[in-house]
Amino acid sequence: MSAALPQYTHLSLPEISTDWLVCGVPEDSPFSTEIQSLDTALSGALTQLKERGDLTGKSGEVTLLPVCPGIQAQRVLLIGLGSLETLTLARWEQALLTAVRKVSSTKNSAICLVVPQDVQKHLGQDRAIITAAYASAVGASGQGLYKAEQDRFELREILIHAGTSAAASLLSRGQILGEAVNLTRELVNRHPEDIYPETFANRAADLAADLGISGEIFDLPRLQQEKMGALLGVARGSEHPPRLLVLRYQGAGPDAPWLAYCGKGVTFDSGGLSIKPSDSMITMKGDMAGAATVLGALTAIARLKLPVNILGVAGLVENMLGAHAYKMGEVLTARNGTTIEVHNTDAEGRIVLSDVLSYAVEQKPACVVDLATLTGACVVALGMDIAGAFTNDQSWCDEVLAAGRRAGEELWQLPMNDSFNEQLKSDFADLKNVGTRWGGSITAAKFLERFVGKIPWVHLDIAGPAYAESAKPYRDVGGTGMPLRTLVELAESFGKKTP
Ligand code: BES
Ligand code: MN
Ligand code: ZN
Repeated sequence: MSAALPQYTHLSLPEISTDWLVCGVPEDSPFSTEIQSLDTALSGALTQLKERGDLTGKSGEVTLLPVCPGIQAQRVLLIGLGSLETLTLARWEQALLTAVRKVSSTKNSAICLVVPQDVQKHLGQDRAIITAAYASAVGASGQGLYKAEQDRFELREILIHAGTSAAASLLSRGQILGEAVNLTRELVNRHPEDIYPETFANRAADLAADLGISGEIFDLPRLQQEKMGALLGVARGSEHPPRLLVLRYQGAGPDAPWLAYCGKGVTFDSGGLSIKPSDSMITMKGDMAGAATVLGALTAIARLKLPVNILGVAGLVENMLGAHAYKMGEVLTARNGTTIEVHNTDAEGRIVLSDVLSYAVEQKPACVVDLATLTGACVVALGMDIAGAFTNDQSWCDEVLAAGRRAGEELWQLPMNDSFNEQLKSDFADLKNVGTRWGGSITAAKFLERFVGKIPWVHLDIAGPAYAESAKPYRDVGGTGMPLRTLVELAESFGKKTP
């Protein structure tokens, strides 16, 4: 949180004194006015590079000028943007992140990110600049939590060159979003004996207190008193007792409607008695990404002082195989009275969320969104980078999808045909917790639907995008913070609708 604040510079590019001057280069177009001014000051070096085919502007291309006589900057880093016509917010962000990750791998660097006029015209000034400030925070934060040797270092100074005048609030907004994403990433990346229900809840309580968010934490006796039999069933195999985290950010009047964000917070998912093979278990410290994303989003919403009321609820449990672990054939009674026959203890997320959703809808929010690393089936359907969206209310889902587009995060709606309910019929209870292999992410969503009543609800299955299994030039392995910015966008548009 102590990282440098981004600031605008109004100097011309050759006059900017910095360690690294970073400028995007579009493919298949003549030099932009920004690049042109650099090229002139550098005695045509960039033209030469281009003529030689060393500067094409292809997406992913990184060209370093390590010595730059004629300009004030120590180095120039040119990053390919691909064709301008097809440039997306996500591609702009990836180019910036690639540059910032490289720059922050040397200690104590000063950076200047150029936001070219063409990019502003194409993506909108606000979003182009917010993304630059965002990338300066996210790209500079690495994976050094448990390493003696760090590979990323805080930037000493961050300048943003936008050419024309632009609001200072864009920079703080980008930085706030970046720091929120870094918080979510950190919580996901922390190992499961570091972040478990109690420590997650305590961390959330500390953050909430600092930000004027009111918080409540239900401990084991309280959860029993509240009849959260589903969540408690999953928690029974673990030495770490469960928690329910309830956060209330009131940025609008007391009569304004509430938007509820619910998160799956399984701090480690061994699979329980239906134990996972080691290869599938290794990333399961990240099975609380839904809860971490809700928490991260709430910190950003509070810091941005958005005029909206948000209820955040997270079900925090560890899914283990202790002597009293929940069992196949066992019937759990959820808070709302629905009975659930357990057919597979590895389908625990939906069981935890059943009580979380019941509790949330009892608070009478106008709309609900839940986030959960819920099914491998969703990853099979949509791949690693796209979240699945499921709903009982198409117009609410359309609003969520639109917020995702504004945020540059990929969501894709999947169907909710009632025929899937057949698969959830149990001989001994109201529901069983798994269906067949086919369309497994839909059966899971149909299960959740039983606990939201008639309230407009969207379920986001983030099993793929919340956790990156491989590094890319623009990201680290581990927590990604996706789709935190969608939640912030949605909170903002929801707040605008309300009186
Ligand atoms: N946490 C997992 C889902 C998951 C898988 C998240 C891969 C991230 C990456 C969830 O609790 C789970 O185990 N789901 C089962 C459900 C099945 C038993 C019906 C699955 O997807 O295999
Ligand atoms: Mn599981
Ligand atoms: Zn799980």
